[in-house]
Amino acid sequence: MQIQNQIQLKTFNTLNLNAVASHYTKIHSETDLLEALNYAETNQLNILILSGGSNMLLPQQIHALVLHMHIMGVETLAEDEHSRTIRVGAGQVWHDFVLWTTAQKIYGLQNLALIPGLVGASPVQNIGAYGVEAGEFIESVHVYDRYEKQFKEILAQDCDFAYRHSIFKDDPNRFIICSVTFKLLKNPALKLQYGDLKAAVGDEQTPENLQTQVIHIRQSKLPDPKEYPNAGSFFKNPVVSEKVYVSIAKDFPNLPHYPQANGDVKIAAGWLIDQSGWKGKKLGAVGMFHKQALVLVNYADAALQDVRAAYRAVQQDVKAKFGIALEPEPVLFDEQGLIRSHQD
Ligand code: EPU
Repeated sequence: MQIQNQIQLKTFNTLNLNAVASHYTKIHSETDLLEALNYAETNQLNILILSGGSNMLLPQQIHALVLHMHIMGVETLAEDEHSRTIRVGAGQVWHDFVLWTTAQKIYGLQNLALIPGLVGASPVQNIGAYGVEAGEFIESVHVYDRYEKQFKEILAQDCDFAYRHSIFKDDPNRFIICSVTFKLLKNPALKLQYGDLKAAVGDEQTPENLQTQVIHIRQSKLPDPKEYPNAGSFFKNPVVSEKVYVSIAKDFPNLPHYPQANGDVKIAAGWLIDQSGWKGKKLGAVGMFHKQALVLVNYADAALQDVRAAYRAVQQDVKAKFGIALEPEPVLFDEQGLIRSHQD
């Protein structure tokens, strides 16, 4: 393990925010991780876990030890006629892993193709798209528990997976994810219910074609971070009570909505932002993408303060028109490397 100083993180976060870390190291193994944690403790530094950088908002200076996760490896743990269980290092690229599973003819993750980021981040916010969430295929997560100071395996049923949620979100300072174990299927039931996916897949209802169509849909709507730096969906889709939904729908009957099992209703944040006039609109160097209003783009070397000014303006306009408070998805960090509230 080698500690480096004053490292620019701009190319390591997909919004391309300028952010210089006072201390930085790559983590290739569990041994590296223990050494780095020890170094941080000895030198009284907070630690900041950097994975694919696709869901984070960083300040310009960070006085902390940044742990850049590079634990690799893909290993089959068990196999039978129906399924295969695979442990995947936290540093593997998510999309490449999805493509690999499809090529191996083990299925389930095809709806999640082209999501940016690394495998280690997938359980944190339980990444989801086109009717599938990663948690449905996760068997367990191998972590270092900073409170108990030991490695352990957390079973999926103890991860509290829900829409954009898990225990790793509840207490972000506790667990460092080293690998994730997935159980994938050899004969999958394809999930085609979401939006126009079924029509896109057409008669060729194979997992391979499903993956191809998901990639096409994403490419047609979502900006490529290499061309338009962004952090994917910038806001969560709000989940409101049926009463609140009914009162909004009286004035806005076209509001896209998805009834939840418990009676609540999830509504489309992208539509609310679009209807508030923000689709394709900019504030300074930052704007909401012209093909999908839910995605905030850094068009011209914005700093964190520019991003915050823009998303707060979006929140205000949506609140004024619909009475709904949008909650940002990316995690906001302070200059000491700690997670801070979007409200401050
Ligand atoms: N809509 C608009 N205008 C817009 C954007 C969307 O009217 O500018 C409408 C659409 O017409 C549609 C509805 O809003 O009726 C929902 O839009 P879409 O199908 O594009 O999905 P989403 O709810 O905006 C969610 C996820 C995406 C995921 C897609 C597909 C969240 C916060 N986002 O977006 O996840 O890819 O569904 O499942 O749940 C991500 O997390 O980075 C991400 C891209």
